[in-house]
Amino acid sequence: MKLAILGAGAVGRSVADLAGEYGHRVTAFADSTGAAVDDDGIDVAAALAEKNESGSVGRYAPEDALDAEYDVLVEATPTTLGDAEPGFGHVRAALERDSHVVLANKGPVAERYADLRELERNSEGKVRFEATVGGAIPVLSTIENYGPDTISAARGVLNGTANFVLTRMAAEGLGYEHVLAEAQDLGVAEADPSFDVNGTDAALKCVILANVLDDGAYSLDDADVEGIAELPGNALELAAEDGRTIRLIGEATPQGVRVGPRLVPENGTLAVSGTRNIVQLETDHAGRLNLSGRGAGGPETATAVLADVNRLRD
Ligand code: HSE
Repeated sequence: MKLAILGAGAVGRSVADLAGEYGHRVTAFADSTGAAVDDDGIDVAAALAEKNESGSVGRYAPEDALDAEYDVLVEATPTTLGDAEPGFGHVRAALERDSHVVLANKGPVAERYADLRELERNSEGKVRFEATVGGAIPVLSTIENYGPDTISAARGVLNGTANFVLTRMAAEGLGYEHVLAEAQDLGVAEADPSFDVNGTDAALKCVILANVLDDGAYSLDDADVEGIAELPGNALELAAEDGRTIRLIGEATPQGVRVGPRLVPENGTLAVSGTRNIVQLETDHAGRLNLSGRGAGGPETATAVLADVNRLRD
């Protein structure tokens, strides 16, 4: 498949790096400084080096990439809230020309799900977005396989950065700011890391789960959200005295979408470590399904993007 990649953060770069291994070709690659476009396939590393060398910070100019020859648009620009622009406009442009779209950007799926599905209905192109929930973990394709109507609720640890911070603080007694800086160095935090620690990122993922489970039109406004930044300094210590720890837990249930710090058993299923995520799906006839793995990071999230691209090829 020919891929146009918008966004050159950790995810966009990893998709560009790994696309060849999957038998795909990158024909356009754009970040905020402009686009490299070549119908025969571009040398992504060279394109990035050229941009870095010129050091130019121009206007956001994905138009050239959107006009290029491609089968699938990979939308990996930073998540934005509200109207989810400019990501939503990129998706619209691709679907209007009957190309497929694979999103890593959560904004259009969380904030404008009904609009997204409407655009898809009027296009020959399909939209997939496995990478928006749980990084490398196949959460959405599992829901698709089972059938969304047979799953009543989803809950779990859905933000790797917050989980890394909580794990490191509990295990090493390190300070919050120090550990958050470490998470940013790992390339797992959002462009705006306040989304990670104030619960917004986990909430967007839960809104996406709610939209998929209900074929809904939920948005962040429907979520009840609390982060980890305001946790009292001794909260983890007090929890440990009682054999428990704290995790930022998100849920999409018939009662609504909620995210907040919760006490969980120290050695329990939900107490995953580091940047791992876990998602529990409550099925109607097969009990609880636990899906766990790497929930953040460039190659991990690119793995989910490229799995979607493969499904569009098959
Ligand atoms: N910043 C997110 C996290 C990864 O830390 O889990 C992308 O959703």
